[in-house]
Amino acid sequence: MKTFLLALLIAPGLALAADPPKKDAKKDAKAAVAAPDPAVVAEGAKLFQDRTCWSCHGKDAKTPIMPAYPKLAGQNAEYAERQMLDIKSGARANANAAAMKGVMGLVNDAEIKTISIYLSTLQ
Ligand code: HEC
Repeated sequence: MKTFLLALLIAPGLALAADPPKKDAKKDAKAAVAAPDPAVVAEGAKLFQDRTCWSCHGKDAKTPIMPAYPKLAGQNAEYAERQMLDIKSGARANANAAAMKGVMGLVNDAEIKTISIYLSTLQ
């Protein structure tokens, strides 16, 4: 009986020790996704500067000029692309989206995709 109780106490500890740290698992999952083409990333960085994106979102894409404006660095590319297309079309519209919508006239859909890929590579 004593041994059984001891095993009950130790087993969960062993199970925890056997689990790989969650952070590494996440890293591995990210590494499994194909790395974006460096040329596309460079083009996205250029567009982010040229099309004035930085003026509201910050040069590093994570120091927005207003607390109500979003940080973009590290965002999932597909998500960022979808949001920009929705703001451009008006499907996403709120008090802040108006500021962003004006700028969406400066980028075509392909450029939006390119910038999104660039943003996803930032830390
Ligand atoms: C005049 C200021 C301004 C400029 C310039 C600007 N944005 Fe924005 N952006 C905003 C605001 C404000 C929002 C949030 C809109 C909302 O709340 O719906 C936003 C939202 C976004 C989002 C969605 C973020 C999310 O988490 O959903 C992305 C992506 C984005 N901007 C990228 C860009 C890019 C790329 C450019 C340059 C082509 C740019 N922005 C230029 C103000 C700006």
